[in-house]
Amino acid sequence: MPITGLHHITLVTADAQRNVDFYTRVLGLRLVKTTVNFDDPSTYHLYYADATGTPGSVITFFEWPRAPRGRPGVGGTHHVALRTADRDALLRWKRRLTDLGVKVRGPYDRHYFTSIYFRDPDGTILEIATDGPGLHIDEPTGVPGVAELTPPAALTRGVRDEDTIAAMTWPEPVPTIDAAMTLTRGMHHISATASDLGRTDAFLQGLLGLSLVKRTGNFDDPSMPHWTWGTADARPGSLVTYFGVSAPTAKRAVMGAGQTHHYALAVPDDQAQAEIYERLRGAGVPVSTVQDRVYFRSIYTRDPDGHIVEVATAIPGFLIDEPVETTGRALRLPPWLEAHRARIADGLTPLASPTWPHDGHDASPAHAARVDDAPALIEAGT
Ligand SMILES: [Fe+2]
Ligand SMILES: [Fe+2]
Repeated sequence: MPITGLHHITLVTADAQRNVDFYTRVLGLRLVKTTVNFDDPSTYHLYYADATGTPGSVITFFEWPRAPRGRPGVGGTHHVALRTADRDALLRWKRRLTDLGVKVRGPYDRHYFTSIYFRDPDGTILEIATDGPGLHIDEPTGVPGVAELTPPAALTRGVRDEDTIAAMTWPEPVPTIDAAMTLTRGMHHISATASDLGRTDAFLQGLLGLSLVKRTGNFDDPSMPHWTWGTADARPGSLVTYFGVSAPTAKRAVMGAGQTHHYALAVPDDQAQAEIYERLRGAGVPVSTVQDRVYFRSIYTRDPDGHIVEVATAIPGFLIDEPVETTGRALRLPPWLEAHRARIADGLTPLASPTWPHDGHDASPAHAARVDDAPALIEAGT
């Protein structure tokens, strides 16, 4: 199967410096590339990732200054989940974020993993999820997604003990991000919203070649179906989930700050990408020609609800134009924009970011405490 997992997710921020502070100093990711939106060179495009920009670890932001807040809904991504090692690491994240003024919900036992939820300064809903126990826990290994499951009742909203969950945290302050906590392991999953999961399955499984690896319900609203696709082994980092919201009153996603612009799936090379391009074309699904993004090459299509989905190559990678020691520190432009460097740089507000490797020690409440509402997880359906 040509798709190897998630490549990156691209969201919208209204304030690049505030965004850099949160994702580097608070969450401990590396600003691995500072460039502009190739389709709108007057604005930043910032890439956060592990040390080298490994596909699957990459979270990117377009800066749209003064953009109004977006809203999740049908045709959009609801949240993105990052991987962490285990429950202790999760509790340390809760303590660290809470001490920095970020409101955190959870830890919630999601049966297949355990999660906390919070928002970035633009209102983006973020989740941190443990790797284990994994999607195979309630289905025979090798054939996940076959059974239509319901969430274990004890884990659902209204049954679980919210007060006990809210009180759980790490007993000591967590000023530094240790190796067990690091979020540079990459994305665990992304969760979007669909109006018809069967139609979405025909797109993700039938055309893109992903496997349907879980069919269950939303643990916060078990009447809402929640399906997961990924590589056949249901590996964290490959998982794309959709909530199914079929009500005619369901609201559509509104693009803006704190919302996902698109998500990107990874293919190893151009040949694998061409296979998917031909499959989409053959099915009459609109798909762009190959776009040169310098660090990867991309084609763009849309899921059945109109959400932009990109298929990006793992090659050539983020170190093609900068050494690993300093990547991300200077403004990089694609060759076709270099002639306009002075004008482009003049229009951008210079950014300050910590040198790499950084330990997150310099995070302060000012880098984090801009959003005062913890996410209501039920809002996938509203
Ligand atoms: Fe992209
Ligand atoms: Fe999630």
